[in-house]
Amino acid sequence: MSVRRRLVIGNWKMNGSKAENQQLLSDLVKLQNAAAVNEAAELAVCAPFPYLQQVADILKDSVIGWGGQDASEHAKGAYTGEVSVGMLAEFGCAWAIVGHSERRAYHGESSDVVARKAAAAIAGGITPVVCVGETQAEREAGNTLQVISSQLEPVLALGAGAVRKMVLAYEPVWAIGTGLTASPEQAQEVHAHIRSLLAQAGAPEQRVLYGGSVKAANAASLFAKEDIDGALVGGASLVATDFQGIANA
Ligand code: PGA
Repeated sequence: MSVRRRLVIGNWKMNGSKAENQQLLSDLVKLQNAAAVNEAAELAVCAPFPYLQQVADILKDSVIGWGGQDASEHAKGAYTGEVSVGMLAEFGCAWAIVGHSERRAYHGESSDVVARKAAAAIAGGITPVVCVGETQAEREAGNTLQVISSQLEPVLALGAGAVRKMVLAYEPVWAIGTGLTASPEQAQEVHAHIRSLLAQAGAPEQRVLYGGSVKAANAASLFAKEDIDGALVGGASLVATDFQGIANA
């Protein structure tokens, strides 16, 4: 068993409202207090940018951290619609998801852009959660490990010093929001591959999260695998008891 601390991060995506967030976060804080805080696991939520102040106000005295769902590779300037790492840091963000498959697919983000975003996050003192994952077609063609390697190449090329400040997340595109979850064996195969790439990069102990339809019911069997260090949770992070159930697992 490794000594890597478990990590469960909620990715709200474009969901929530002031009223819904208030309810969800206060429920989460209550559940955490009632659970007498699971020392073994670290928890965070990644909220839409306009709500970061609200999230910070509600979570500031809790054990739950927070972050953004993306971050610009640029520090400031004429980049309409973008949010910088410095801005996230001002709102107390400890985390920024980068390279989520929805950003790659809908916003054309290449792996080089993702690597530059990760570098910007690290330079600004925020831990990037770098997401990689294959599509259904890539898996069926037998290219899964190759796709993961090529997505990670520019990220790992940032060097051991940078990679030691990252968390990686394996999110098979076909499992995101579909109710289909990679089996623990399928996930472990990819996580072991990622671990070997991390080892080559001089950072074998970085945490690697699994994401893709993680629920309270399937979390424990995934977390039992050697190289799965936690989860990046979409849908189930919007329901306090579901998210807490995953954290308990
Ligand atoms: P899901 O999303 O849990 O709703 O499948 C996971 C993610 O995209 O991070």
